[in-house]
Amino acid sequence: MLDQKSLSALVDALKRLDAGFAKLPEYESDAPGIARLADVLKATAERLQDNFPYFHPLYAGQMLKPPHPVARLAYALAMWINPNNHALDGGRATSAMEKEAVAEIAAVFGWKHFLGHLCGGGTMANLEALWVAGQLQPGKTILASEQAHYTHKRISAVLQLPFESVPCDGRGRMDVAALAKRIAHGDVGTVVATTGTTATGSVDALPEILALREKHGFRVHADAAYGGYFVLTQNLGENAARAFARIGEADSIVIDPHKHGLQPYGCGCVLFRDPAAGRLYRHDSPYTYFSSAELHLGEISLECSRPGAAAAALWATQKLLPLTKKGEFAQGLERGTKAARVLFEKLKGDARFMTAFPPELDIVVFAPRAASVSEASRLTRLIFEAAAKRQLHLAVAELPIPFWEEDLGAMKRDRETLTCLRSVLMKPEHLDWAERIWDLLSESTTEVL
Ligand SMILES: Cc1ncc(COP(=O)(O)O)c(C=O)c1O
Repeated sequence: MLDQKSLSALVDALKRLDAGFAKLPEYESDAPGIARLADVLKATAERLQDNFPYFHPLYAGQMLKPPHPVARLAYALAMWINPNNHALDGGRATSAMEKEAVAEIAAVFGWKHFLGHLCGGGTMANLEALWVAGQLQPGKTILASEQAHYTHKRISAVLQLPFESVPCDGRGRMDVAALAKRIAHGDVGTVVATTGTTATGSVDALPEILALREKHGFRVHADAAYGGYFVLTQNLGENAARAFARIGEADSIVIDPHKHGLQPYGCGCVLFRDPAAGRLYRHDSPYTYFSSAELHLGEISLECSRPGAAAAALWATQKLLPLTKKGEFAQGLERGTKAARVLFEKLKGDARFMTAFPPELDIVVFAPRAASVSEASRLTRLIFEAAAKRQLHLAVAELPIPFWEEDLGAMKRDRETLTCLRSVLMKPEHLDWAERIWDLLSESTTEVL
C-alpha cells in the first residue's frame, strides 16, 4: 500500500504550491497539540485497520474502488488550501478546475452546452435531478424500476413527489411492457432509467424508454451513477451498447466519479442537457458572491459548501487519464467487464453453482445449488464466510426468484428472494486475479458443501 514515490511527489508539489504564496510575510502555524500529532496519527492508522482490504484485488465484494494515486495526492495537496467550491470567493482555482473536469465528463455523453456540477455523491446528484424534474413537472409521478437505487423512492418522498416502482424482467432490467402500461394511465413526469443497477449492473433498455418519451412527453433521467463511464468502453453486450449509445438523449444524467471515476468519496456529478435548468436554482447569497460577476458554482447547485479538493482530484485524474475511448482509463473498465465474464463462465461450467444471467458490466451474481431456495440462501452465507477466511472478500445480495428461474430446475421455491453471492470486479487488476479468485471461491465452496 505504501508508496514512497507518491509521497515524495506530494512533498515536491507542496513546495510548488508554497512558492505561489511566497509574497506573504513569514508565518508559522501553531496548531494546538502538534507535538502529539504523530502518536494520534498512528492510533488513527490502527483504528483504520478494522476494514476490509478494499484496495486489494482479493476484495471483490461491494462497489469499492481505490482512488487513483494522483487523485489521493491532488486531494491531499488541495487540503493545504482547503478550497470551498460554493463560490469563487472560497475556491477560485478549484471552481475553474471543476468546470473543466465536468465539461470533460459531459463531453463523453456528447454534450457541449449543458448545465452540471459536482456534488456529494450519487444520492445528492439524483436528488438534484429529481428536484429539477419536480420543478418542471410539479406533482407528476416519478417511475423507476424495482432494481433502481433505493434512494429514488426516498428522494421522491423528500421532494413530496409521487413515486412508483416498475417491475423488472428476468435480467434485472426495467420491464418495458409494464412501463408502457403504467405510462398509458397518465400523470408520469419522469422515468428514471438505471444504466447499471447497483445489485447486478443491469442496464435498462434506454432506446425503448426514449421511444415511449417521444409518444408521451415525460422526462428521462439516466441514473448512470455506477454505469456512466462504460459509455467509453467497446466490449459491451448488445443491450448495454444500445443503451449507452443513446444516453446523451436523456434529459439529465448522474454519474459518480467516486464509483468508477477513481475518486475519493464525496464526488458525484449531475448533468442537465438543457442549460436553462440553471434558472431554477436562482437565489441571492448576501454573504458570498462578491469576488466576481462570473458564475459561482453555488448559483447552480443545491448544496452550499463543497470540497474544492474533490475538483482538484478529479481534474488531476482526468489530466493523467483522459476520458477517451481506447484510452488507459477506458481499458481499465473493459478489463473489469472481461474479469466478470471470466468468473461467470467458470461458475456456469460448475454444477455446484447457479448464475442468474450473464453480467452486462462488471458485477456477477451467483449462488450454490441446493434442494430449496432457503437452503441455498443459508449456504451462500457460509461460502461468504469461508471465502473471507481465505482473504477473498465477496458481497451478499437478496435477489428476486425470477432472476434465477432458468437455473432453478426442481429446487423448492420456499422464499420469494434468494440470498446470493455478489462480486463487483471493478478494479482493472481483477482480470489478472480472476483465476485466483475462482480458485479461492471453489475451495471455499468445497469446504461448505
Ligand atoms: C445506480 C446507483 N445510483 C445511486 C447510488 C447512490 O450513490 P451514493 O452512494 O454515491 O450516494 C448508487 C450507489 O451505489 C447506485 O449504484
